[in-house]
Amino acid sequence: MPSHEQNYQIWNNSYDWSRYQGDEWSAKWGGTDMQWYWTIYPRIRYHLPAQTILDIGPGQGRWTRYLLQHCDNMVLVDLSEKCINACRRRFGEDRVLYKVGSGDSIDFLEDESIDFAFSWETLVYAEIEAVRGYLEGLARKLKPDGRAFLHHSNLASYSAYFDLTIKMPKRLRDFLKTRGLLDYDQWRARSVTAELFARCAEEVGLRVTTQELIPWGGRRLIDCFTTLTRSSGGASPRFKKNPNYHTRAYHIQELSWLYGEGVPW
Ligand SMILES: C[S@@+](CC[C@H](N)C(=O)[O-])C[C@H]1O[C@@H](n2cnc3c(N)ncnc32)[C@H](O)[C@@H]1O
Repeated sequence: MPSHEQNYQIWNNSYDWSRYQGDEWSAKWGGTDMQWYWTIYPRIRYHLPAQTILDIGPGQGRWTRYLLQHCDNMVLVDLSEKCINACRRRFGEDRVLYKVGSGDSIDFLEDESIDFAFSWETLVYAEIEAVRGYLEGLARKLKPDGRAFLHHSNLASYSAYFDLTIKMPKRLRDFLKTRGLLDYDQWRARSVTAELFARCAEEVGLRVTTQELIPWGGRRLIDCFTTLTRSSGGASPRFKKNPNYHTRAYHIQELSWLYGEGVPW
């Protein structure tokens, strides 16, 4: 159950960002460019360009550098001052506002100031109280036609499975995991499901337009991409289970040998 303190401890104090600044997490795609152009950009391209983009949990700016090409201004909020300082050095002061945040709030922003909010591999570690805090914030800080694309946990859909695996002797668990017979929980938030996320969004007045359930590491669909808007009305939400998310990443990696950026791993 990741708390703000544990997140801070890992991302601010323990994790070694010095070599690749998070680009190492794109290895499965054959590099950050490949992941952006083949996996992320196709999912958010209709929301871009946007005047002001908010990146929740940018880390050291793996996606900020691409998002900056599609907006006038950006706001970066992260729990870790180490990450915020690294982003400040990387992107400068001209178009970017930086904030070390509390982990559940964007109250520091002016109301109706954000056109597009984005978050990747960050809210997956946020339990439902923090998620609710951000959603309440987005309901106020998005412009009336603003949108959000948020990557979050769906682990609680598999609570029974992960409660059971945690009870196994560690050696057996590790043995099964290394043979691909057991899923890792990937440190995902244990209180969040896609359904609960959508309900919280609707409760604060946001409208869910799409939800895509994906696996992360194993077979179970423990993660979700949710797209939200503030505007009311419109079609009912579209929902998809995408168990082939990793297979697709490996296909992209194969192409990276031909068309990629020549990454060091
Ligand atoms: C795995 S890194 C991902 C960084 C970046 N989004 C990327 O994909 O490269 C997680 C980042 O989220 C930040 N973080 C974790 N929980 C957070 C929260 N509740 N609010 C804001 N930032 C958070 C961490 O400090 C870290 O920088």
